[in-house]
Amino acid sequence: MSVTSERPDTSTEVSATRSDPAAAAATVTTHTESFSDDVVIIGGCGHVGLPLGIALADAGLKVSLYDVNAATVDRVNAGELPFQEDGAAELLRRGVDEGRLVASTDPSVVARAEHVVVVIGTPVDAHLNPDPQAIPEALTDCAPYLTDGQLLVLRSTVYPGVTALVERMVASLGKRIDVAFCPERIAEGRAMVELYALPQIVAARSLEVQQRGEKLFRHLTDKIVNLQPEEAELAKLFTNVWRYIKFATANQFYMIANDFDVDFERVRSALRYEYPRAADLPGAGFAAGPCLFKDTMQLAAFNNNNFALGHTAMLVNEGLPLYLVSRLERRFDLPNVTVGILGMAFKGDSDDTRASLSYKLRRILQFKARGVLCADPHVTGDDRLVPQEQVLAEADVLVIGAPHSAYRSLRTSKPVIDVWNLLGNGVKV
Ligand SMILES: NC(=O)c1ccc[n+]([C@@H]2O[C@H](COP(=O)([O-])OP(=O)(O)OC[C@H]3O[C@@H](n4cnc5c(N)ncnc54)[C@H](O)[C@@H]3O)[C@@H](O)[C@H]2O)c1
Repeated sequence: MSVTSERPDTSTEVSATRSDPAAAAATVTTHTESFSDDVVIIGGCGHVGLPLGIALADAGLKVSLYDVNAATVDRVNAGELPFQEDGAAELLRRGVDEGRLVASTDPSVVARAEHVVVVIGTPVDAHLNPDPQAIPEALTDCAPYLTDGQLLVLRSTVYPGVTALVERMVASLGKRIDVAFCPERIAEGRAMVELYALPQIVAARSLEVQQRGEKLFRHLTDKIVNLQPEEAELAKLFTNVWRYIKFATANQFYMIANDFDVDFERVRSALRYEYPRAADLPGAGFAAGPCLFKDTMQLAAFNNNNFALGHTAMLVNEGLPLYLVSRLERRFDLPNVTVGILGMAFKGDSDDTRASLSYKLRRILQFKARGVLCADPHVTGDDRLVPQEQVLAEADVLVIGAPHSAYRSLRTSKPVIDVWNLLGNGVKV
């Protein structure tokens, strides 16, 4: 690994700065005159692709967003952010208004850009199998438009070996295209801070390709970390899996304490107090969303399903809704009780419901309880949700499913199951 934090001499190439995008737009020159766009992002209207496109356009680059989702493409071209992302809405509007950011469903836009960034989703299937072909297949649609001289940047979280697979695919096309793997490491909702604040991993086989990748990401950060592609593929997976295992440890501790009639949060805050070695013990809560679970399963599959820690973490984290319901059953006559779930997003202050454990909780309770009412102040487009006032009025017991900050000021006389300790009343159930 090598870390570079010096800017190379870019005086003849790029002088874009984030603080003055208009001036930057005027001074940016492209690597090769035959490209009219600097960047195209395949999957560019998604949760990772769009913030990246917005940030690069704000740095003065001309960016196309290629995406198969026509409805989202229309919203982006209308200057509308299709999901919550703090600080992105105004920059999106500016990029669109000034013509530096254009979304399209037409794969031919790929031919126009010097840099082709691929950031489509890489989910596991219903049987928890990853699909190493997801990215090569997405690229197949674009293959006729891949052009000599381009830099192809893989940015999705991939099954190890996918960079090499794409290198072979590109070579088989007989085109002179460089390939780099530069994984995205932002957390949703914090993209417009973290894209600039986090070091960028740039992984390529040759110094020349590495420098091309660095040059692109130096529009966002001076902190670059160089790795080989296989190292970087593992680095990204290890990062997410480590986080998932930490959450599982906290959740298992929570269940142990709770079964012992002890409040885990009192134990946790005491053991962390002025004790740095334990400072990273997270609180209990639903560990869900589109990344941590599936990346743990990607790593497990990669290791021939021999990944006891990862599988155990999955059982613990995915088991938390079941555990909570089993505890509810002890306290309440569930068949005669209506349960309200507050917070359906997979994490706090987010509108993203992908792989949210609140929906798993809902499904279990639909089977066990008299009724379930769900609300979320951030989530739109789910007509099964009802207003929060209705949940507060009609439910007999409440469960906080996502730690939205608004719930800290929740006032209710109903019992509240709050594994997050948002209300400060402890986490025992
Ligand atoms: N969401 C996160 O916080 C996060 C953070 C870091 C890394 N990642 C990784 O980034 C990748 C993308 O995640 P995401 O959350 O942005 O997913 P997403 O589903 O929000 O976005 C993917 C986009 O790709 C589009 N798409 C799908 N197939 C396509 C194709 N063949 N051609 C063009 N567009 C296509 C979809 O319409 C969608 O807009 C995943 O590998 C994920 O693990 C996600």
